[in-house]
Amino acid sequence: MTTQIDLPLLFLGQGTDPASERGVDCPGDLPAASDPDLVARAKAAKEALGGKVFVLGHHYQRDEVIQFADVTGDSFKLAKDAAARPDAPYIVFCGVHFMAESADILTGADQKVILPDLAAGCSMADMATFNQVEDCWDTLEDLGIADRVVPVTYMNSSADIKAFVGRRGGVVCTSSNAKRALDWAFEQGEQVLFLPDQHLGRNTAVLEMGYGLEDCVVYNPNRPNGGLTDDQLKNAKMILWKGHCSVHGRFSIDAVNEVRERVPGVNVLVHPECRNEVVTAADHVGSTEYIIKKLDAAEPGSSWAIGTELNLVQRLKNAHPDKNVMFLEKTVCFCSTMNRIDLPHLVWTLESLVRGEVPNQIVVDEDTAHYARVALDQMLALP
Ligand code: 13P
Ligand code: SF4
Repeated sequence: MTTQIDLPLLFLGQGTDPASERGVDCPGDLPAASDPDLVARAKAAKEALGGKVFVLGHHYQRDEVIQFADVTGDSFKLAKDAAARPDAPYIVFCGVHFMAESADILTGADQKVILPDLAAGCSMADMATFNQVEDCWDTLEDLGIADRVVPVTYMNSSADIKAFVGRRGGVVCTSSNAKRALDWAFEQGEQVLFLPDQHLGRNTAVLEMGYGLEDCVVYNPNRPNGGLTDDQLKNAKMILWKGHCSVHGRFSIDAVNEVRERVPGVNVLVHPECRNEVVTAADHVGSTEYIIKKLDAAEPGSSWAIGTELNLVQRLKNAHPDKNVMFLEKTVCFCSTMNRIDLPHLVWTLESLVRGEVPNQIVVDEDTAHYARVALDQMLALP
């Protein structure tokens, strides 16, 4: 049986779909974006809260938000940073919904994790719903191969997908440890079901582990049997979920070719959520932390075309005036959901906390949290 994706069309601020990674409303009155005192208000509220609040900022957040982050990082680092601050009663997560869920799972029961705008979801995470993944697993069971398939989910998935994976002996991975997670998974079983980003799964298997493109099949949750034959499902090493990032999926091989022609000696540096042909044509591939470190270590005067979210690329350009840093693709925009977190939402969140009100708390139910933690702990324990 195949479940159709059922995502209601919600106008921001008008309606709620708590089951979705995107499109939920914001209660309360936001300060106007034009308020000239927003920076001073955020500073004052953060000072008033002192050690009670710990602000995490993902690298794709806007500068206006990042300036108030106590730590910045990729999703792997932020998950560990959240777990390392058991003394802070409020964790304000400037990132997207699945990251805040992971922080809630990894922090203490008395700590409250807050997402400044509940509409900050992730379109990739929405591409794998719990029912769809259960249907897929039923298909693998009917084929008699489920006991040799190890599920691996990218951090960019909802808590119930992580719990699904934890219940079945799998692991969570991020873009900085995907190879280690897959090495571990292939020690536990013979095949991997990789959720929900087909590109990270394919790129890691093919570029880092020596598998061929023919070892990978793409499971489409909207087609019977995932759109695959029984033999394709049985013989694949990597069963890749048909999901992708709406930002990284747009970088093209034409952009790589064009920049190489235009800028002699340019280094092309991309995130592994990009398509295989783009990653194959690039000089360097890695997570956001990797991209930042690569730029830090680069020679003055060197040229870098970067394929990742625009807020980070702009920040890198500003931080390295001695290097020629450019955005790889002309037509790619910011991640619209990451960008939902802005200064008005942060001020509203911090000022609410000062008043003793806890807005937009992200709570993962106990059973889901337990099994998601199993898969997350397995990730944190990877060699
Ligand atoms: P990382 O932060 O793990 O590199 O992931 C990138 C991303 O798309 C987060 O949404
Ligand atoms: Fe999701 Fe891509 Fe945005 Fe990251 S950049 S939050 S994967 S849509």
